[in-house]
Amino acid sequence: MKHLIWSSGHQLLLKNIVRADNCYLYDSEGKKYIDLESGVWCTSVGHCNPKINKAIISQIEKISHTGFFYANPVIENTSKKVLEITGLNDGKCEFLCSGSEAVEYGMRIARLIAEKPLALTFSDSYFGAYGEAGKRQHDNWINYNRLECSCNSKEGCTGECAEFNTIPFERIGIFLFEPGSSSGLVRFPSVKLIEKIAEKIKENHGIIIVNEVTTGIGRTGTWFGFQHYRIQPDIVAIGKGIGNGYPVSVMAVSKNVAEVLATKNFLYAQSHQNDPLGAVVAFEVINTIQNENLLLQCQQLGNLIIEQLNEYKKIFPIIRQVRGRGLMIAIELTEKAEPVQKELLKKGFILVKRSGGEVLRIDPSLTIKEKDIKAFLKTFGSILLKIQKK
Ligand SMILES: Cc1ncc(COP(=O)(O)O)c(C=O)c1O
Repeated sequence: MKHLIWSSGHQLLLKNIVRADNCYLYDSEGKKYIDLESGVWCTSVGHCNPKINKAIISQIEKISHTGFFYANPVIENTSKKVLEITGLNDGKCEFLCSGSEAVEYGMRIARLIAEKPLALTFSDSYFGAYGEAGKRQHDNWINYNRLECSCNSKEGCTGECAEFNTIPFERIGIFLFEPGSSSGLVRFPSVKLIEKIAEKIKENHGIIIVNEVTTGIGRTGTWFGFQHYRIQPDIVAIGKGIGNGYPVSVMAVSKNVAEVLATKNFLYAQSHQNDPLGAVVAFEVINTIQNENLLLQCQQLGNLIIEQLNEYKKIFPIIRQVRGRGLMIAIELTEKAEPVQKELLKKGFILVKRSGGEVLRIDPSLTIKEKDIKAFLKTFGSILLKIQKK
């Protein structure tokens, strides 16, 4: 890896991965790994999914790139599908290249049309590698710490504490919501808190933008993470899983936002807006999840993992907490997350240890087989047993 820039903080897990098939990765020696990370949570319907590959091949033989002066029926068809699953009927979409870009673009629109100067979000949220939402350090942001307040609830803030009452809703025009903190180590905000915030934002004619880059496209057992709450966002940013590893993302807006936007002078230009190839991939990913009933499968497999991990928690005190929704799961240990991860890797299971805690993440493709999950759980249990006996 002499000629690659390697970002500090990025672990080099395996040097020679040359082939993949659904949830299996193979190295150049032929060793097989079960991928429980799905390539930074992107391969929603499995590596080298034959339906996605077929759609890609068929599209690149027609046209893959146009540029922003052109349209193509596949973009319109995919937009309709995206709007259907987001509940933003009669809204509009734009196809982009990364999760960071979808959030950033959504925020630019929100800032342009918001009637009030402040944007509210949670301090444990992550929104991307760049842009305004990536930094959130200016004084037009409120980064509310929902994990440290006087609500005294296991779920964090429920909107019933003095700290919550200091949020100046009368000056807030935007709520940027990540419905399950991803880099914040998999924590799901309480329903009470989110519904209370949404109500206040709507009372003040504000905009709700959800970042579904990780929680979207079935990861938590519903199409989107916000669907675990009774809210309807105005803007939805979608990335990762919608491309199954291909770099396409989508930013979708409501009919109302689209109408207001049309009255403004709004400029945004990059070379790959609304490329047909990305749109075809997104279309086929949504189709596959629908046709193969993968939302239900995600709920069932997620429950299986969470239940077994909670059983382990009763016998292995090293497990501090198990958190999860669907196939977005974190195991927080009291110690030794890194040696456990390394041992799992040796035995052929890929999990990521997140920085900032003794936390292991499990986010496999929705297409993972039950037998592979069971094999992982068995191996994980035996590693914990060995540690306990020492
Ligand atoms: C919650 C969340 N939002 C946004 C992003 C940024 O997406 P991308 O890396 O595709 O730019 C990530 C990436 O990990 C993420 O987890």
